[in-house]
Amino acid sequence: MKKSLHDRGVIARYGAFLPVSEATPVVSLNEGSTPLIHSPKLSERAGAEVYLKFEGLNPTGSFKDRGMTVALSKAVERGATTVICASTGNTSAAAAAYAARAGIRCAVILPAGKIAAGKLVQAFAYGARVVAIRGNFDDALRIVREFGGVEGVAIVNSINPDRIEGQKTASFEIIEELGEAPDLHILPVGNAGNITAYWKGYREFQAAGRSAKLPKMVGFQAEGAAPIFRGHPVDPHTVATAIRIGNPASWEGATTAIQESGGGIDIVTDHQILDAQQWLASHEGIFVEPASAASVAGLLKRLSPEATQADSLPRHKGAKIVLTVTGHGLKDPEAPVKHGGFVPIEADADLTAVRRVLDKS
Ligand code: F0G
Repeated sequence: MKKSLHDRGVIARYGAFLPVSEATPVVSLNEGSTPLIHSPKLSERAGAEVYLKFEGLNPTGSFKDRGMTVALSKAVERGATTVICASTGNTSAAAAAYAARAGIRCAVILPAGKIAAGKLVQAFAYGARVVAIRGNFDDALRIVREFGGVEGVAIVNSINPDRIEGQKTASFEIIEELGEAPDLHILPVGNAGNITAYWKGYREFQAAGRSAKLPKMVGFQAEGAAPIFRGHPVDPHTVATAIRIGNPASWEGATTAIQESGGGIDIVTDHQILDAQQWLASHEGIFVEPASAASVAGLLKRLSPEATQADSLPRHKGAKIVLTVTGHGLKDPEAPVKHGGFVPIEADADLTAVRRVLDKS
């Protein structure tokens, strides 16, 4: 692959495991190498070592950058002049940024009125053509699929295998950091590309002798957008707009990951998601978007006294649990502001007045 000394992204780090060659022009923003942050408070509650893979610290604020560096590099290598994707917001932000970096056009097809403000701004700022359809993500993806085969156009949704290839590198990083795979990996599930990618990554590193074990993969969907949990497509509704998906493209990949790993698929309510988001920010200093908090909400659900599947949590000494938190909280300020009723306390501009309101709150 044609990489320069400046490249520090996932292709530079894991090119040997990716579909790139000397002929591949690397389109990178130094994505990946995100922190795996130990959570003392979740660890104490779980009786295991709990870590958060904070993917919100990627260049466009979500895990999508890992797949997009590979997808754009390969698209340019194949001569594409335009990339197109359907998105609930993060994929479109990443596609637009990497297309800008590559100097090619980007079109994004989004469900009107259902994209978090920060993500929509990103698509425009990075210079994408933005089309808002009167329909949901699943409708947008149907339209994008119809662009398949159009000369010069590359689809960069996770139905493009290059995306899955890039995203699997998160598993590599976790294994390198922990010395082996964790016992349990929890992540939010929407279109199901990420759970598919993580499982592929864990299996590849195991095959390469880098980890003796494999984790159980447990996915959480929002209660109102839980087609895999329910076993049939649904009309999706959830405050976690990133995972507002009724008919996931990588359904089969998710099923394989869950079955082969002995994991599971479960649901969390919007209320549990927003509570978990606020808890994580105010107790561990990690602010993630609502969809990302589904993994934290999921762990907390399994730890609650009413949990019916608590037995699936690893309880042995030194057990490790990794939660992927997929996107940054700043992308979607509206939902937590509403949920938390966040308003500043007003005060006159003097010390006495400020101390008075601080003492009261
Ligand atoms: N978390 C966030 C923040 C997401 O943006 C997504 C998906 C997911 C979780 C779920 O990942 O789809 O691989 O199961 N966002 C896509 C998008 C659909 O268009 O940005 P998944």
